[in-house]
Amino acid sequence: MLPARAPYPQAPADSAPSKPEPLKRELGQFFTPPPLAEFIASFFTRPLQDWRVIDAGAGSGTLTLALVHHAIRQKPRPHSFHVTAYEIDPDAIAQLRNTLKVCADLCADAGIRFSADLLATDFIAHTTASLDHSLFSPALKTFNAAIVNPPYRKLAAGSSAHAQLCRVGIDVSNLYSGFLALLSRLLEAEAELVAIVPRSFCNGPYFRAFRKDFLARMALRRLHVFESRTAAFSNESVLQENIILRAERTSVLTDTVEVSSSRGDLTDSVRSRLLPLNEVVSPADTEAFIRLPASDREHAAKNSLAHLTTRLVDLGLKASTGKVVDFRAREHLRAVAGAGDHPLLYPCHFEAGLVAWPKPGGKKPNGLAVSIDRTDLLIPTGCYVVVRRFSSKEERKRIVASLLDPTRLPVDTGWIGLENHLNYFHAEGRGLAKTLAKGLVAYLNWSVVDDYFRHFNGHTQVNATDLRSLPYPTAAILHAIGEAVGESFPVQSELDTLVASHCLA
Ligand SMILES: C[S@@+](CC[C@H](N)C(=O)[O-])C[C@H]1O[C@@H](n2cnc3c(N)ncnc32)[C@H](O)[C@@H]1O
Repeated sequence: MLPARAPYPQAPADSAPSKPEPLKRELGQFFTPPPLAEFIASFFTRPLQDWRVIDAGAGSGTLTLALVHHAIRQKPRPHSFHVTAYEIDPDAIAQLRNTLKVCADLCADAGIRFSADLLATDFIAHTTASLDHSLFSPALKTFNAAIVNPPYRKLAAGSSAHAQLCRVGIDVSNLYSGFLALLSRLLEAEAELVAIVPRSFCNGPYFRAFRKDFLARMALRRLHVFESRTAAFSNESVLQENIILRAERTSVLTDTVEVSSSRGDLTDSVRSRLLPLNEVVSPADTEAFIRLPASDREHAAKNSLAHLTTRLVDLGLKASTGKVVDFRAREHLRAVAGAGDHPLLYPCHFEAGLVAWPKPGGKKPNGLAVSIDRTDLLIPTGCYVVVRRFSSKEERKRIVASLLDPTRLPVDTGWIGLENHLNYFHAEGRGLAKTLAKGLVAYLNWSVVDDYFRHFNGHTQVNATDLRSLPYPTAAILHAIGEAVGESFPVQSELDTLVASHCLA
């Protein structure tokens, strides 16, 4: 069970006045509710005599207060607790000051020496300046513990924070990964970091460099997944799926990682399993994906597909993203395809595993009016497997695949346009054999593949890289599935039985 909320006086942290949404977004500000903060603090495992803690983006100080509660419960009790808290928002700083007073009182009552540095300054600017090692750099302060709920916001390539991070060799696309990358450089040998962060860094090309950098410096020890996407921050409009991460700077290597999960409302019990590290981060994976089978279904799916060793390249296939970015090709879009216009396909053209085109009277265009030398927008007519890139969080399936069978299209110009909200499988830019394509659609729509996909993808987007990293059956099996599928695809339960009969060992 989760620890009960500690019986200590609470700082007025949770009474911070709520800011207007745009300002909160600018600051990447989502405060951790105190019960969640207590849970996060309980992840620390090292009983320290002298805590030297950093809380970067401390907000009103809820995490530091929870860690003070944790340290007071520690046996034997620590001698001292020092925290360095960074925060730039004046409203939050006022709250933070109060919280640090509460921390000081709690420590005084427990006989622990308490001190705090409240740095009302930009963590990225200040820390990168220290890491710069130039003559006038501020001295670099190091820590033996970090607790953090960093700001979540995209980092624009031209922004000053991006430039500051690049100067010290950190190239990241989001503020939160920048914070984690810096913290990994501020921790001493044998130190622990516990962070609540979006799950998005675990996979996807934008976080590849960050994952490699972080995993080279820190040992993953525990990853906690919330099964409900929004429950952890139910009082805030946080849409990303969050995880709690415990990592260590240590020379003691272990080959396991604890992967735990709970519903997210903090009344649920925690389920936990120890997984081999190489199952979570495969040494052979050049993308360094962090794979998290949290639920029993995801774990079962992972085991079910473990014997499938064929990769997309072995099938001679590639996965790419649709070439037509519609807002950049506005002048070529046609609601109805006129004479000579090429079929233009969107996710709205998916219907029960097949592509049904055109859809007149809908919100999306159906035609693309460009000359056939526009190979930057067109693909040659053929049989393709198309997959939706986005699903809404309510939808049951993440991977939704359809067969693009050119014989079902009433127009044939020799070319087709695929809009950018689609991924497609092709053979060096050309179509696939129809039975292979049918087999592949059925395989991708198999519920077990969807469960498998969820163990390494925490967000609702399906990237072409994700499709490349899936395991596949051999071409012979895909052809056999394709033969078994009739002219139309069966309903989900029948499709699951059909694919399982070919793919389960
Ligand atoms: C996601 S909130 C978390 C706050 C607090 N740690 C908590 O868990 O409730 C991130 C905090 O970082 C602060 N922040 C944003 N950018 C910052 C920066 N560059 N340096 C220091 N603090 C920053 C925001 O004002 C916000 O209070």
